Amino acid sequence: MKLEVGKLLYQGKAKDVYETDHPDQVMVKFRDDITAGDGQKKDKIGKKGYYNSIISAKFFLLLAEEGVETQYLDLPEPGYMLCKKLEMIPLEVIARNVAAGSLVRRFPFQEGQELDPPLIQMDFKNDEYHDPMLNDDIAKALGIVTQDDLDYIRRVTLKINKILKNFLESKGLMFPDFKIEYGRDKEGNIVLGDEISPDTCRFWDRETCDILDKDLFRKGESGVIEAYRRVAEIILDEDDLEKWSLDPE
Ligand SMILES: Nc1ncnc2c1ncn2[C@@H]1O[C@H](COP(=O)(O)OP(=O)(O)OP(=O)(O)O)[C@@H](O)[C@H]1O
Ligand SMILES: [Mg+2]
Repeated sequence: MKLEVGKLLYQGKAKDVYETDHPDQVMVKFRDDITAGDGQKKDKIGKKGYYNSIISAKFFLLLAEEGVETQYLDLPEPGYMLCKKLEMIPLEVIARNVAAGSLVRRFPFQEGQELDPPLIQMDFKNDEYHDPMLNDDIAKALGIVTQDDLDYIRRVTLKINKILKNFLESKGLMFPDFKIEYGRDKEGNIVLGDEISPDTCRFWDRETCDILDKDLFRKGESGVIEAYRRVAEIILDEDDLEKWSLDPE
């Protein structure tokens, strides 16, 4: 099936955003493109868009059940997510439960060290400036958010972290960190947008310590798509699997 979509509004590194016939809604197409290292490392991984879309849909639905405002409206077919159209806030909001990645490179933390309470970090989402870390004062001076917005984003991100971490731990996965993006809907409410997937999260198998996320690609290891499929297999329940097959085609 090929879905009817409107004009292409925006093409990012991993997703396309299309107009729909509803002015407040967009169709987000999850592509198979994968990038790392500030866009330096690039590839295409068959079915990645498929898995990321069903994994994101599952997480958005779970969060909505717990009262988090999300962009998610529908997944008319895997790969395509119907979303609330948002005016994106150029922040990469990161929550960390375990030290990994750039935190370990930039600060004297040990990889795998527990961070309790969890840390919230915000980076300025701007390719030209290479997404630098910022603080509340810089974000406010840039005019992208108010202090109230920052307080709200922080509170909601901690709530999202708690919900997802509990859920994933119940499935045997550790949740070291994740990155999310927020936007404003037409009423001005701050709503969770973008995606929550192995491209934007770290997932570690608690028993085997297997990495099940984009770090495999960053490190040039094999089994990237198998890891993404495994995340879908772990988090989807029987009802989900009736709608979204784990083995398309
Ligand atoms: N609900 C939404 N409404 C409008 N735009 C959205 C929504 N959710 C996500 N976006 C934006 O869609 C774009 C495409 O996503 P993708 O992840 O491919 O881009 P990116 O490469 O991370 O970002 P960019 O190209 O903007 O630097 C991103 O700019 C993202 O902020
Ligand atoms: Mg992105």
